[in-house]
Amino acid sequence: MVRVAILGQGYVGTIFAWGLARLKKGLLEPWGVPLARVDFGVPVESLEIVASFDVDAAKVGRSLYEIARGYGLEPEPELKEVAVSPGLKLGSTPSFIKTAALDDGRPLEDALARFRELLDDARPDVLIDVTTTVRSRPLFTWEEAERRVAEGSLPHSQVYAYLALERSGVAYVNAQPAHVACSPAFVERAAEVGSLVLGDDGATGATPLTVDIAEHLAERNRRVLSVAQFNIGGNTDFLSLTEPERNLAKEETKSGFLEDVLGYEPPHFIRPTGYLEPLGDRKFVAMHIQWVSFGGFVDELVVNMRINDSPALAGYLVDLARLAYASLRAGVYGTVPEINLFYMKRPGPLGTRHKAKMLAYRDLLSFVERLRESRGLPAREAVTRARTSNP
Ligand SMILES: NC(=O)c1ccc[n+]([C@@H]2O[C@H](COP(=O)([O-])OP(=O)(O)OC[C@H]3O[C@@H](n4cnc5c(N)ncnc54)[C@H](O)[C@@H]3O)[C@@H](O)[C@H]2O)c1
Repeated sequence: MVRVAILGQGYVGTIFAWGLARLKKGLLEPWGVPLARVDFGVPVESLEIVASFDVDAAKVGRSLYEIARGYGLEPEPELKEVAVSPGLKLGSTPSFIKTAALDDGRPLEDALARFRELLDDARPDVLIDVTTTVRSRPLFTWEEAERRVAEGSLPHSQVYAYLALERSGVAYVNAQPAHVACSPAFVERAAEVGSLVLGDDGATGATPLTVDIAEHLAERNRRVLSVAQFNIGGNTDFLSLTEPERNLAKEETKSGFLEDVLGYEPPHFIRPTGYLEPLGDRKFVAMHIQWVSFGGFVDELVVNMRINDSPALAGYLVDLARLAYASLRAGVYGTVPEINLFYMKRPGPLGTRHKAKMLAYRDLLSFVERLRESRGLPAREAVTRARTSNP
């Protein structure tokens, strides 16, 4: 059994828990889980959610069952078994959330100690961070992290990663934009203590499509003149992105690929641009790219999409939890660029060059073959299997 803890029981975290329960009962086809059919020794059935943390007073103390119902999802009885525990709000939780956090009215040191106790009780193998977007800077040494945790000057995701990495044999999957897998302090610490960090910021909606289109144009030696890409959504993630610092965090992870894939940085505008409540979770995405073709002629591509935002990431999380655990078990510590490059917007470790997701997919499958070998599973062509065995 793989013990999974969710940090941030929002829409992504809840669709993940709910979808996992349904997948395990065969009530859901695994569409949207990229490696659903690839066996590397950690089946979906082995994932068990053992803990959940949030700071929202409307969620803390309630079961995942009640929370799923609140989101209008068909209730799954298994979700009654896990209740949301209070997390740490620190200085980075959005002001629109009414909190019931461990550090509400309690000295930080005590709140940290209480969180450590909760982790001791839950004993997670994998922690998945899907808390509200937060902006951060990379941390370079463990001592710096230690000092800044104690003085309360780090955003919540970096504090959670620090507390997780006080332990050995755990994986921290950071699906939001804070620098975790892109903080050398965390990657080095994880390597030292036999743990793992994956991240940062899941690449789900327009980002993987844009990076693959950029690769297509680069391979054909077309000169990109400009890239515009924006998203408008009506979920609380988009509401939080109306705060300028959080929006900048997203902009940074969304536009980093251009130079690496094209070899130059064309003028671009790539960021979430607004909150429009009636759109709900199904965000509106628009993309415009123009480029110079042979003879100086200018072509254009225009894409419009409506994308169910949170399910896209929730499907990835099923893979990420399995891959994180399989890597730990194979003795792969620190971080795994092959996983990050495929699933993440700003792949760790810091300084990793982006590449098109369709190229990263090949490298991911080669890595998975190595995981299979480490389990003594017969080497097979994972590429073929991953693509042909979906129903
Ligand atoms: N496709 C996607 O939806 C997608 C893609 C990439 C990344 N992400 C990231 O996933 C994260 C979650 O997205 P979402 O749509 O579920 O948002 P959400 O607003 O529904 O959920 C975020 C949850 O985090 C909780 N939270 C806030 N501060 C916290 C803290 N200090 N400790 C514990 N919990 C805290 C909130 O109360 C909320 O329940 C965001 O950071 C987003 O950037 C989402």
